[in-house]
Amino acid sequence: MKKLAQTNRDKAIDLLSERLTFERAGVKLYDSIVEKIGRAADPLLMTRLGQLKEHRDQEKEHEEWLEAQIRALGGDAHAETDMSRLVAVESRGIEQIVLDGDMNPTHLFHALLTAELVDNAGWQLLLELADEADDSEARQAFRRRLHEEEDHLIFTRKVVERLTRKELLGPPGELFTTAHPV
Ligand SMILES: [Fe+2]
Ligand SMILES: [Fe+2]
Repeated sequence: MKKLAQTNRDKAIDLLSERLTFERAGVKLYDSIVEKIGRAADPLLMTRLGQLKEHRDQEKEHEEWLEAQIRALGGDAHAETDMSRLVAVESRGIEQIVLDGDMNPTHLFHALLTAELVDNAGWQLLLELADEADDSEARQAFRRRLHEEEDHLIFTRKVVERLTRKELLGPPGELFTTAHPV
């Protein structure tokens, strides 16, 4: 992380704090979705619970790793920064849906998909900056976590597709029956 931070340490801390704020929010989103899915006991979604918990633990690891990186640069992992304030405001709509009383799985996963798209873009940006700074240690660490974020995105996108497909076309098998009544 040294090369990445050598020109402008405060900006490096700001960018890491931006990701950290988002990862902290991500853990809360996953905790809430796991709890709501568990309560609703929808058979399709129950089969995805293990994967959701795994992704939640990865977001938690990202959070803790970012805290350690900020501290290593001499920053405060709980201080607000310019970009951390921005993402806190941006995330409010997503949190309102997921953390509040909304139990509709389509709403929950749609909101999670919005979060994961930003999450992916955020890690991608860090990876590209580490590349530019020729910081191989940071590049390796960012790439590893970006790969996990890519899995989160693919998974969430698939769940949204399944749920929306079910609403629009009915459960698998019903499409044929409806389109070609005997
Ligand atoms: Fe994340
Ligand atoms: Fe994620």
